[in-house]
Amino acid sequence: MCGIVAYIGHREAVPFLLQGLYRLEYRGYDSAGIALLDGELKVFKTKGKVDDLSRLINGETIRGTTGIAHTRWATHGEPNTVNAHPHYSPSRKLAIIHNGIIENHDSLRAELINRGYSFVSETDTEVLIHLIEDIQDNEQVSLDEAVRIALNQVVGAYAIVVVSGEDPDQLIVAKKGSPLVIGLGDKEFFVASDATPIVGYTRNVIYLDDEEMAIIPRNGDLKIKNIKNQDRTPYVCQLEMQLSAIEKGGFPNFMLKEIYEQPRSIKDSMRGRVNAEKGIISLGGIADYHMKLVNCQRIIIVACGTSWHAGLVGEYLFEDLARIPVEVEYASEFRYRNPVINEGDVVIAISQSGETADTLAAVELARSRGATILGICNVVGSSIARATHAGSYTHAGPEIGVASTKAFTAQVSLLTLMALSVGNQKGIIPQSRFYQLLNEIESIPSKVEQVLKVNEKVRDIAGIFHNARNFLYLGRSTNFPVALEGALKLKEISYIHAEGYPAAEMKHGPIALIDEEMPVVIIATRKGNYDKLLSNIQEVKARRGIVIAVVTEGDEAVGRLADHIIEIPDVDELLVPIVATIPLQLLSYHIAVLRGCNVDQPRNLAKSVTVE
Ligand code: AGP
Repeated sequence: MCGIVAYIGHREAVPFLLQGLYRLEYRGYDSAGIALLDGELKVFKTKGKVDDLSRLINGETIRGTTGIAHTRWATHGEPNTVNAHPHYSPSRKLAIIHNGIIENHDSLRAELINRGYSFVSETDTEVLIHLIEDIQDNEQVSLDEAVRIALNQVVGAYAIVVVSGEDPDQLIVAKKGSPLVIGLGDKEFFVASDATPIVGYTRNVIYLDDEEMAIIPRNGDLKIKNIKNQDRTPYVCQLEMQLSAIEKGGFPNFMLKEIYEQPRSIKDSMRGRVNAEKGIISLGGIADYHMKLVNCQRIIIVACGTSWHAGLVGEYLFEDLARIPVEVEYASEFRYRNPVINEGDVVIAISQSGETADTLAAVELARSRGATILGICNVVGSSIARATHAGSYTHAGPEIGVASTKAFTAQVSLLTLMALSVGNQKGIIPQSRFYQLLNEIESIPSKVEQVLKVNEKVRDIAGIFHNARNFLYLGRSTNFPVALEGALKLKEISYIHAEGYPAAEMKHGPIALIDEEMPVVIIATRKGNYDKLLSNIQEVKARRGIVIAVVTEGDEAVGRLADHIIEIPDVDELLVPIVATIPLQLLSYHIAVLRGCNVDQPRNLAKSVTVE
């Protein structure tokens, strides 16, 4: 969480820094700040969003060609102006921005207090900048050396940028466990938590590795070393991201844009990977590990949130198509559970951002126990993508809305290809079924295009129920994860309490909640225990519940029972989750908009959860 951005070069830094903060605001948006080197080191910060910071500095004449800026998602200390970044050192000669958590900040703070320092904020970050200045003063070393020594005393995760009022001609940056990218311009450098602020300025970037730091001069070449003081050769990559991918493109917000992008993002996730006519699935990124997957005894999927829901769909797919037992684990539980990992197990880590701290830790744990780890990530070059043995990118394009939409459908598409290709290699799937599924997969983007036409109908339904206080989502088989995902989407952006359940579980508890005020969303497509779902709908109706049903087009039986139906095209049961999720995304979206919620930046959330 938290977005960091910095600049050193020949142009005025403020426009780049502010625009960068807007682009990174999805990472955290409870306070924001900026520090400029303008003869002296000046810090401006405020509680609230980047807009508030922008208003704060509007009347000020702040200039400078070296600057750092930050948008925060609070971890240590409430989101207020004092706790906002940048933080000054005790003498106010240095300032720092930080993304991550310094886990041993309490003991470091106590030591520093013993030595006479005091603190104005509750943050771990202020402890770090005090420590850096203390080292610089006591050991009479350069700033980069003081940063290096300090980082050797730190336990935790960080992406930091440090500037000194006494030396406006350099930035010191470092990272461990939190992402950081450096853009190389013409006699200028850009630093950010991800490439989105940089893409309009340069395509040449360097992704720092963990425990690496860069000393970036205004003039000349940057130098990279690790915190053990060993020099590193910079590896420059080319950004492929398009600017249009990170703009709203005429939509009122990113979430709606990303929902509507799904026909294309699903197609992109399969581009060059499927040839239905020839019966070929080729996943280049994991080609070297394909036989390992084919011969594995068990798959363990680790993920969080929406990516975990995609993993649950993966469980149905791998078990059905490849007959491989699958366990789907919350990464946060897996990492602390002393899990049994056998030789012959393959771990698949799923993450849109590729930065989720719990998923990354689960990957590291599984790796330390000798497992083969494959990644399904959206962000190229992300920490999880780099920590796995191999992986396939979802290629859904940047997902900026905090609520994950197109990443989910791309993850499920990719899992489908993986399971199908393994099942085919194992000779488990009859050839006719293999070809039928391949053909259906290829047609999914057009089915999604079709399902988006339900938008107006869904908006009308949202109009009826946007004041409800609770929702229940039910589904069976592959639609059970869809129910979970629908409920998560609703709660995170509309703040309405929602629960997802396997439909048959309703009678073991949630049925007690049903009354004439609680909408029950049932994914009742014609596959997946359809008859049994009909009984579940009757059970809800018998208790005067309100049923909103997602049904296969042309369905009549559910239509006779439900209060509202949303039709989706007929697809194979294994592919239904990709299509059935779309109306639920739209339902949450419209309900949230009608309730006046900020759908792109829901309260308390951040896009990539890089803290535990
Ligand atoms: C999804 O809408 C959520 N915002 C959240 O659950 C998210 O899926 C989760 O934090 C995992 O993120 P990742 O895919 O980037 O690892």
